[in-house]
Amino acid sequence: MRLLPLRLVRWLFELLYGPLAPTYDWVSRVFFLGQWAHWQRAALSEVSGRVLEVGAGTGALQAEAVRRGLDWVALDRSPAMVRLARQRFHPLAPPALLLADATALPLKAGQVDWVVSTFPSEYIVAPATGKELARVLRPDGGIVVVLAGVLRPDGPLGWLLDQLHQLVLGSHGQLPSLPAPPGFSWQPRWVASPRGRALVLVGRRLERSLAPAEDLR
Ligand SMILES: C[S@@+](CC[C@H](N)C(=O)[O-])C[C@H]1O[C@@H](n2cnc3c(N)ncnc32)[C@H](O)[C@@H]1O
Repeated sequence: MRLLPLRLVRWLFELLYGPLAPTYDWVSRVFFLGQWAHWQRAALSEVSGRVLEVGAGTGALQAEAVRRGLDWVALDRSPAMVRLARQRFHPLAPPALLLADATALPLKAGQVDWVVSTFPSEYIVAPATGKELARVLRPDGGIVVVLAGVLRPDGPLGWLLDQLHQLVLGSHGQLPSLPAPPGFSWQPRWVASPRGRALVLVGRRLERSLAPAEDLR
């Protein structure tokens, strides 16, 4: 079970996405033994065409996606995160990187082939987010969510960090479940990394909802 009260955990994460954002990459790399980037990249093998990444944080996955030649638009609600993501690309021209909220996407209907979200915070369970994702996706578009990562408790350090994650985030038995956006169903699977594994959900429209995007508003 989670030892820290949920309100405290929320407050700590808001600090990490705001004033402490410059430490975000370090925290995610060190406390997850370098697996974070592997887990994020599990999303890349699923996608093609025009991709929208929501809750993109410091832009690490966008940088890798751009390096691989993917057509990638990223957004985040936190000005501190978007600033850090833009700095990542300096002095090159930054790719499309928006300060925006996942519950009110600044895109027209049916504009993207895939939506990606890695390690989403609570925005991903908001009904408004599900509706927005369904709206901006093309009729045959899909969603990839990297929902959680789990370290293999190898050795004392792996064991210690695994215990710490469970205290803050909850035990593995309580891994978050996520309702599919309207008209979508999830196919979940675990993807292995060198020192752990990531829970990846791939969402596709249910057959009967393959309708023009405008009708999905
Ligand atoms: C746990 S971080 C994940 C960041 C990145 N995707 C990663 O894999 O490291 C969650 C991110 O979601 C962003 N976020 C929270 N609520 C949001 C919302 N309503 N719309 C867009 N982004 C949001 C936060 O600012 C933060 O950057």
